Amino acid sequence: ENQKIVVFGSIVQDLVSYTDSFPRPGESVRGHNFKLGSGGKGANQAVAAARLGINVSMIGMVGEDMFGDSNIKDLSSNGVDTSCVGRTKKTHTATATITVNKEGENNIVVTLGANLEMSPEIADANSSKIAGSKMVICQGEIDEKGNRRAFEIARSHGVTTFLNPAPGDPNMDKTILELVDIICTNENEAEFITGIAQNNVKDAEKAARAMLKMGPQHAIITLGGKGVLLASKGVDDVEHTAVIKVDAVDTTGAGDCFCGSLAAHLVAGHPISASIRSAANLAALSVTRHGTQSSYWKLDEIRQQYPEFLP
Ligand code: RIB
Ligand code: NA
Repeated sequence: ENQKIVVFGSIVQDLVSYTDSFPRPGESVRGHNFKLGSGGKGANQAVAAARLGINVSMIGMVGEDMFGDSNIKDLSSNGVDTSCVGRTKKTHTATATITVNKEGENNIVVTLGANLEMSPEIADANSSKIAGSKMVICQGEIDEKGNRRAFEIARSHGVTTFLNPAPGDPNMDKTILELVDIICTNENEAEFITGIAQNNVKDAEKAARAMLKMGPQHAIITLGGKGVLLASKGVDDVEHTAVIKVDAVDTTGAGDCFCGSLAAHLVAGHPISASIRSAANLAALSVTRHGTQSSYWKLDEIRQQYPEFLP
C-alpha cells in the first residue's frame, strides 16, 4: 500500500459572505463578496496534505445533492482518493454558513447533515484502508464514536493516530486521548480538554503538559499569530515555535491547513519541530487568500516563492 494518510472526517459545503463587520442580532448588513467553496475540517486537512504531494484517502459522507458532487470533485482534483466517500439519501451534504469580516475573522454556523452518518460501522467497513495507512487523522466534526472506532482500528495495526478535536466541544469524551499519538488543539479546545483556563502562554504550556498525561506522545497547541507550542513525552521543556506575520484576508481553515501540513511532513519522515515550523508558516500563507481548501498553497508554489518554509 503506498497510501500514507487516511482522513476519517467531515466534508462540508462552505457558503462564505465577506462583509465589513458582523451583523448583530436582528441587524442586516451588506456583504461585498460571496464565494462557494468545498470545506469541512476533514476534507480541508486532506487537501492540505495532498497539495504537499502526499498520498491521501478520505473516508467521509455526503448527500445525493449538487454539493456532494462538487465536494467529491474538488477532493479528487486535488489528488485525494475519494473511493471511500459514501453518499446518503437520508440527509443533505453538510453546509457551513460563514461570515468573514474585514479583519479576516469568521463566524460559522455548520449543519452536519451527512457527516452525522460517520458511524463506527463506517470505520469498520473501511478498516483495511485504515490498516494500510501510516497515519489516521480525525476531527470533532463527526460523531465521536466514529472517531473512536477509527482510532481503535488504527491502534490495532500500528497506525499513528492524530486528533484535532475541532470545533471545540466542552462535552467531548476525553478518554479518546488514550488512543491518540498526536493531539493538536487551539487554546479553547485545550481548555475544554484539560479544564485549565487559557489566558496566556504559560496557561497553554500547562495545558499541553496536562494533555500528555491523558495519553498522547505529542501535544500541540496553536496560538494563532503567537505561534505554536509542542510538549512531548520524555522532553522537559515545552517548545515554542514562532510564525511569520501576514496580512489576514480570511483565516477560515487555517487550523486545518496547519494540521494537514503537519501530518504530511510527519509521514514524509521529517522531525516534529521542523514539521511544526513549516506547517505554521504554510497556515499563515493560507490566511492571505480567500476560502479554505482553495487558499492552501501547492508544493510547486511554495518551492518557487518560499522554499525556506519547507522542512
Ligand atoms: O475549519 C474550517 C471549516 O470549518 C470550514 O471549511 C467549514 O466547513 C467549517 O466546518
Ligand atoms: Na484562507
